[in-house]
Amino acid sequence: MSMKPEPQIYCVGGAIRDELMGLPSNDLDYVVVGATPDEMLRQGYTAVGQDFPVFLHPQTHAEYALARTERKTSKGYTGFAVHFDVDVTLEEDLARRDLTINAMARGVLSDGSLSADLVDPYHGQDDLEHKVLRHVSPAFVEDPVRILRLARFAARWPDFTVAPETMGLMQDMVKNGETDALVAERTWQEISRGLMEDTPSRMFVVLRECGLLKQWLPEVDALFGVPQRADYHPEIDTGLHVMMVIDKAAQMKLSLEARYGALCHDLGKGNTPAEVLPRHTGHESRGLPLIDSLSKRIKATKDCCEFAKKLSQDHTTFYYLPELKAGTVLDVFKRTDALRRPERFIELLRATQADIWGRGGDFSNALTPWFDQWQRLLKTVQKLDISEIVSRFTSEPHKIPEALHQKRCETIAPLLQTWQNA
Ligand code: CTP
Repeated sequence: MSMKPEPQIYCVGGAIRDELMGLPSNDLDYVVVGATPDEMLRQGYTAVGQDFPVFLHPQTHAEYALARTERKTSKGYTGFAVHFDVDVTLEEDLARRDLTINAMARGVLSDGSLSADLVDPYHGQDDLEHKVLRHVSPAFVEDPVRILRLARFAARWPDFTVAPETMGLMQDMVKNGETDALVAERTWQEISRGLMEDTPSRMFVVLRECGLLKQWLPEVDALFGVPQRADYHPEIDTGLHVMMVIDKAAQMKLSLEARYGALCHDLGKGNTPAEVLPRHTGHESRGLPLIDSLSKRIKATKDCCEFAKKLSQDHTTFYYLPELKAGTVLDVFKRTDALRRPERFIELLRATQADIWGRGGDFSNALTPWFDQWQRLLKTVQKLDISEIVSRFTSEPHKIPEALHQKRCETIAPLLQTWQNA
């Protein structure tokens, strides 16, 4: 009778990839080979996995998963048969992972340190060296979220290319309906993480090439091939412009809301009537229902959706400031809720700056978000003493809003005048 070998613990996945890239990794994942769930519990681990056995280390609380294989049994996110057993090998566990660069492991030694020997049956180190995102095995198709993960990694490391066979596989997945069953929450989780990477455009370029953009974000896909006026947009193509704007927003370290806004600010250009092109009169408000439907489909947060709509509605108004009447400026403050949320208002101006910089030429002289001027107007309105108006209309409170509007207009009009005359 043969003795069951001692369980072996390996550190796997992103942590090994990051270590080889010289990057810090705060998320360590471990795989245990040759152990039963009972053995894990006896050693003090706590069981947490719902669909497959994952345990938390009694002291460090790091995650330890039993080596497993997965087999798709039906379409959709939950159609998996998970097989875990003491005889599942490390190589089998690594084979079910998404990318070769994520399918490497190092043994954990008895003192807790990692072995110098790299377990790399799918040549992840080669792909890391050549900067290639490549699937490990045909099992890639079993989880459509992997397309989004791959696109997100492309946004993180823009000099990585997608292996042609992996792109082919992803295109087939979209065509064969494998991505119909993507769970919207997971879509948003990956897209929002990708937007926060250094070069978000790469994510959308990859998604476009495999067809997922057209399926899940058709409002964004529709922008490619739509011309704009060359005098304001030397890059001509609206899709290209939007890609430049989201990368600018990332360079400027803008918030997630602002980056999503950058992605959505010109959606209205996607349905400009052909006879008006390359002008896009009215695209600001035409974008609003498109932002609503996109945000609903991919479950973008309410804050992101709201920010995007406000940016779509007013990004052009911001840079026409010297031409605006005082009443229009107040309308903008009202629409953007600037008095109550001044920091978001400033972020809207920053996103507008990204829109100006994200073009195929330098428009610093022609267009500006008028940062200082908008902020000065806002401060002036905020500081205005309204007690006199309130007391004047105590018996007719319904007249307060009109009187307030009047007073605000009178106060900011001279400021506007100075910039108009300048
Ligand atoms: N994994 C996978 N398929 C998925 C999700 C995860 O194959 N859909 C595997 C990969 O081997 C991955 C590991 O599980 O490296 C850990 O996943 P996770 O912690 O989500 O991602 P990381 O690769 O660590 O990436 P990040 O740095 O973005 O967290």
